[in-house]
Amino acid sequence: MSPSGIPGLERVLFTEEQIEARIREVAAAISRDYEGKSIKLIGVLKGSVFFLTALARHIEVPLKIDFLGISSFSNRSGAPGLVRIAKDLDDSIEGEDVLLVEDIVDTGFTLRYLLQTLAGRAPNSLSVCTFLDRHSRRIVQTPVKYRCFEIPDRFVVGFGLDHNQLYRNLGYVAVMKPDRS
Ligand code: IMP
Ligand code: MG
Repeated sequence: MSPSGIPGLERVLFTEEQIEARIREVAAAISRDYEGKSIKLIGVLKGSVFFLTALARHIEVPLKIDFLGISSFSNRSGAPGLVRIAKDLDDSIEGEDVLLVEDIVDTGFTLRYLLQTLAGRAPNSLSVCTFLDRHSRRIVQTPVKYRCFEIPDRFVVGFGLDHNQLYRNLGYVAVMKPDRS
């Protein structure tokens, strides 16, 4: 039986309960590390939105939120490393303690581009928190300070992650069947 009867999905990788529990742990670590400071959470549209809001609710230091949108051609079928900003941040990050929130770090090309771009805007600090990490496919080594889950080399959807813009609203993370395209 496919998860929730969705034929394209093979199995649930992380349940809602597992996700919630792990996000609480990561939020607690962030709250400890940034004690006495305030954080600027920067979400990368659209995938990180679900994770960012869940994470933010459990962080116990003051925080602000901003978003940027990217066009990425670094997926499995496209040429790697081609990323551009399609929607920029609303506000400056100069002097702020920035935590970049990603849905998934795969090859690392997207993250490298974002870190280079944001570092040029003189934040006080710049770290990365990703929901999922598929380290086995990393091409560009990028510093990931916080990760919720390491995942196998399979395409996953749910909790913000999409396939052709679908499945973002699933509360769990599921592995897609190999014949998805
Ligand atoms: P990277 O530049 O290869 O690290 O690309 C990461 C981006 O590819 C993510 O932000 C996602 O948009 C997309 N991506 C990579 N793997 C998956 C997946 O398994 N499901 C959904 N999107 C993915
Ligand atoms: Mg993304």
